[in-house]
Amino acid sequence: MDLSVAALEAVLATVVDPDRQKPLTTLGWIRDLAITGTHVTLTLAFPSGEPLQREFLDREVQRTLLAVKDVATVKLTWRELSTFKNIIVVMSGKGGVGKSTVATNLTLALHRAGHRVGLLDADIYGPSIPTMLGVMGRPVSLDGVQIEPLERFGVKLMSIGFLLEDPRSAVIWRGPMLAGALQQFLKDVHWGTLDYLVLDLPPGTGDVALTLSQQVKVTGAVIVTTPQQVATDDVFKSVAMCQKVNIPVLGVVENMSFFVDSAGVRHELFGSGGGAAVASFANAPLLGQVPMEQSIRECGDRGTPIVQAAPSSAAAQVFVAIAERLVEQITGVEPAAAPVIDRSGGTGKRRLPLVG
Ligand SMILES: Nc1ncnc2c1ncn2[C@@H]1O[C@H](COP(=O)(O)OP(=O)(O)O)[C@@H](O)[C@H]1O
Ligand SMILES: [Mg+2]
Repeated sequence: MDLSVAALEAVLATVVDPDRQKPLTTLGWIRDLAITGTHVTLTLAFPSGEPLQREFLDREVQRTLLAVKDVATVKLTWRELSTFKNIIVVMSGKGGVGKSTVATNLTLALHRAGHRVGLLDADIYGPSIPTMLGVMGRPVSLDGVQIEPLERFGVKLMSIGFLLEDPRSAVIWRGPMLAGALQQFLKDVHWGTLDYLVLDLPPGTGDVALTLSQQVKVTGAVIVTTPQQVATDDVFKSVAMCQKVNIPVLGVVENMSFFVDSAGVRHELFGSGGGAAVASFANAPLLGQVPMEQSIRECGDRGTPIVQAAPSSAAAQVFVAIAERLVEQITGVEPAAAPVIDRSGGTGKRRLPLVG
């Protein structure tokens, strides 16, 4: 028999996983099967956090392949596939509205509530997670297959910022590169099993949202806005984008909602109503209103977000409440399916509630 990948797949179909009582081929665990002369290489991809009889399967796969005439050697690589129970994207049409501040504090609040959490800095144009969480360093690979995420305050972290030689250097990404980088961050980082993976998206995220919705099941989006209408105009577009690519909007966070001065007087520096307007347009709850506070910025600049630095402060409690509402909101929301593109040409579409 001539060696062919199809022939080897056929023999591998006889190897049954004892836990699942299904052939490895049916489970989709066999990857990158290749033949060089009499040498066979393959990867066994298994889901993290589930039972695995690794030694048994290693032995069975080797034995089965070596029994094939003309197979002299087998090299088997194991690869753990991360399991994300929920993927949350934090987005906004605009930069500077506090996406990263919300993403980091939300992540830490979820962790402190007992969830297994990871944070992926997908803002490859302006990664700020390394600064906001005070982490520097280069991720390493322990198995030569996957990259180990960094860890801080019990949260797993990955950012393009960790991979740049000079954190101030600009990265020029084209659409496909961006999509590729994101896919690698999701696939090649050893996240393990997470209850929540939070993604801090770059501003103007139309294509990123689309890419993501095609690659993974996104549980939903948290939209960040400021109170004023100028900021919200762009934010409405990101809500519309989510709807187009079928990512549920889980809720809206209004950031820099108000400022309380030393005399205790509340000022609405950026106007009011933006968060409620976006929430109503998105048909989603307003998860919370975050005050404008010097300590929030300082904590971020110092690398310990306020939820971690001063968990009982009023500002931290706002993020904690936002995390709680988000979790409530997720219970009962189905993960996004493949996107449905609206080809109606605009009939029946809701008008953006822009105020002139
Ligand atoms: N509620 C807030 N109070 C004070 N400063 C804030 C607040 N939210 C964000 N900032 C500051 O505003 C700047 C922009 O926030 P950032 O989270 O980086 O926005 P984005 O990720 O949307 O670009 C940062 O310096 C951050 O510390
Ligand atoms: Mg940011």
